[in-house]
Amino acid sequence: MEIVRVKNTGLRGVPVADTKISFIDGEEGVLIYRGYRIEDLAERSTFPETAYLLLNDNLPDKDRLQAFSRQIAESRHLGDFIFDSFRRWPKLSFPMDVLQASVPLLAADDPALADETREGNLRKAIRLIARIPVLVAAWHRIRNGLEPLSADNSLSCAGNFLWQLHGTKPDPGIARDLDICLILHADHTFNASTFACREVVSTRAHMYAGVAAGVGALSGSLHGGANARVMQMLMKLEQEKDIAGWVRREIDQGRKIMGMGHAVYKTMDPRAAILREMSRRLGEKLGQTKWYDLSIQVEQAALEEFQRRGKKTIKPNCDFYSASVYHMMGIPVDLMTPLFAVSRIAGWCAHIIEEKFGDAQEKPALYRPESEYVGHYCGKMGCMYLPPEERKREE
Ligand code: COA
Repeated sequence: MEIVRVKNTGLRGVPVADTKISFIDGEEGVLIYRGYRIEDLAERSTFPETAYLLLNDNLPDKDRLQAFSRQIAESRHLGDFIFDSFRRWPKLSFPMDVLQASVPLLAADDPALADETREGNLRKAIRLIARIPVLVAAWHRIRNGLEPLSADNSLSCAGNFLWQLHGTKPDPGIARDLDICLILHADHTFNASTFACREVVSTRAHMYAGVAAGVGALSGSLHGGANARVMQMLMKLEQEKDIAGWVRREIDQGRKIMGMGHAVYKTMDPRAAILREMSRRLGEKLGQTKWYDLSIQVEQAALEEFQRRGKKTIKPNCDFYSASVYHMMGIPVDLMTPLFAVSRIAGWCAHIIEEKFGDAQEKPALYRPESEYVGHYCGKMGCMYLPPEERKREE
């Protein structure tokens, strides 16, 4: 096998595996899940249907979709020990930490954990898609001194999440908008969290171990954590008169404008375009246009500043407009990243199944990249080793 030496690139532009799940054209701003463009899925699909597509490589017919949705609904009830554990957590714990720590609890609550067949993993995927939203909503209620609510299986996945979070039946239009958000965030090729999931299960660890790693990776502010940071930025800028000056100062001080830029897209993220329109529409519907207006001002100021600095390819990503959308839906800022996980769990599970059972016969069993050692060879703790090049130099 030829070893490709890429140093300090974060593996950008280096394909490490084959996938049939999703595709990005970063120059053209195209995102495809299993042959379907994201714009078409957002318009015509639902989150369960998209999750089925990601897991199975084809859209379900009506009966299959009904059965899949029923399996999700039947998997929502969690073992009591999980909520008991939540009640003992410090109330100020970060929701992403609570979520990451709860994934192994879901493993402990799975009587068929040891079933490592493809079907067994599909079943685990359905349990995870059903249960991650329940965990997020239940933690929010428990930290606020409220009791978790039972699921209302007459609602959609998105609608039930809003119900279990807020305890009020959601406006159907808002539930549908959240459903679209879940479709948009469900997969995104080898992003950091998906790669973390795949890397972990390449060791033959179970799906829950991979997902726990994925949640940890998603929590970072350069990945899923960006949506919450965008909302914090918008709240901070509410009274700011000189947005352009603020953007300039941030960049001058070496700080990133959250929700802008992407490792793969060199043009507008297609999800951001859909979310921008949703933010505008929701703002008008709810009489809260200030968040959309402010986002537009920051976007314009940032684009002009990036242009001035010769960085024309930095454009809004999906987190830029999802922040205002989620805020208007009543999602607390620190639940915005967990909400990302509520959606991305579908893609993580699809990738884990592909990693475990994909048909790329020649792929190595385990990810094991190389690093370039740039530390000391000798002089520490009596270490007598010298690599061949150093030995030659000594001679
Ligand atoms: N604000 C300010 N500068 C930015 C920027 C942003 N949002 N995104 C990239 N840049 C600048 C970097 O500072 C760097 O400048 P330099 O060459 O002068 O050092 C240059 O653009 C390249 O940045 P880099 O981080 O190496 O590019 P990348 O394409 O690998 O980065 C991100 C992708 C997502 C990590 C980066 O754009 C970022 O940090 N964005 C903000 C966080 C975010 O929204 N994350 C969610 C991603 S979906």
